[in-house]
Amino acid sequence: MSCPSRTAALCHYAAVLLLFLSSPACTFSLAATGYVKLNSIDQAPSLDSRDAVKPFALRTMPLGASITWGYKSPDGNGYREQLRNNMTAAGWEVNMVGSMHHGTMQDDDNEGHVGFRVDQIAEKAELTIPQKPNLILINAGTNDALQHHNVSTTGERMDQLLDRLYEAIPNTTVVLSTLLPNKRVPISAANISAQYRDIVDRRQKANQRIVLADMSQGGNALSKSELVDNTHPNEAGYTKMAEIWWGAIQEAESKGYLSAPANVDNVNDANGGKTSSDDKLTEAGKITIGIVVPFGVITVGVLSFLFYRRWQRRKERKGETNSVLS
Ligand SMILES: *[C@@H]1O[C@H](CO)[C@@H](O)[C@H](O)[C@H]1NC(C)=O
Ligand SMILES: *[C@@H]1O[C@H](CO)[C@@H](O)[C@H](O)[C@H]1NC(C)=O
Ligand SMILES: *[C@@H]1O[C@H](CO)[C@@H](O)[C@H](O)[C@H]1NC(C)=O
Ligand SMILES: *[C@@H]1O[C@H](CO)[C@@H](O)[C@H](O)[C@H]1NC(C)=O
Repeated sequence: MSCPSRTAALCHYAAVLLLFLSSPACTFSLAATGYVKLNSIDQAPSLDSRDAVKPFALRTMPLGASITWGYKSPDGNGYREQLRNNMTAAGWEVNMVGSMHHGTMQDDDNEGHVGFRVDQIAEKAELTIPQKPNLILINAGTNDALQHHNVSTTGERMDQLLDRLYEAIPNTTVVLSTLLPNKRVPISAANISAQYRDIVDRRQKANQRIVLADMSQGGNALSKSELVDNTHPNEAGYTKMAEIWWGAIQEAESKGYLSAPANVDNVNDANGGKTSSDDKLTEAGKITIGIVVPFGVITVGVLSFLFYRRWQRRKERKGETNSVLS
């Protein structure tokens, strides 16, 4: 197209304006494709391998007191990180849930409350019940023993907690841990553990989805030498706890107890329920594209404007020399 020199300015202003106007749409569409691409690339391999192995996620609530929270554990993860690794290595998608967060692990959610007794832990369980975990790991009662709080009826309080959990989440599976061996209150701890073994026996006979994780009896049990103080496990003790939990979860699976978690608004079990670093990268990618594209468009517009003016001037000068020569 040949712009007469007076309307040339109007012409390239219009061109630049057009580029400006098209930039938001351009940014939006590029950002959208960038998001979809990054996401599918990042998630495809894990989804393929996991879906092939296990049919649903284990939305897992670690419920209890300081041992659940990971007190005295060097990295703060307690038993939770190794157990989670064992679960995911077996093909489970795992989403730990709970209002507490502790440790270096990414999926650090738990319902572990330092110093709490069974009755107090039952109150805290209410915080996570609405998320309807399909697997609940309970280690509670050590503080009842340490506080000499009605030790002989700790089992009754545990029964109330279990009733509440099954009432609120009908298909959930409970792994009930016995207490660890304890050096301060060994007899009370052993007494509570015995009450818990009875509970699991009785409830299994009533066809409830419950298994025992025996931390203080049997071949796998922790010994008192695996305590860092008189109550809490050392690193080796936490590792052993993870193995015992994992054995109990496998028992629950083989008994057919495990079933899919209910759909709950705002609970997404993928990536441990976290916005993973992959998603954060994608967010960053979106922002980058949103900045780079408009600036690129502006730069290209300004440059083409300048080149166009130069070309126009050169043409005008040529025209002048031509007219002189003719
Ligand atoms: C559980 O995971 C730990 C390391 O995370 C590993 O050493 C151990 O062998 C695993 N146990 C099982 C039974 O897979
Ligand atoms: C101990 O348990 C009994 C029976 O459940 C109850 O009546 C009593 O109030 C409890 N005592 C304390 C201190 O909690
Ligand atoms: C519990 O699981 C059974 C299958 O195992 C299913 O039929 C039932 O709908 C589930 N109930 C709830 C409340 O999710
Ligand atoms: C626990 O201790 C109480 C009181 O000392 C006793 O009556 C009860 O039989 C014990 N329970 C178990 C399961 O050992």
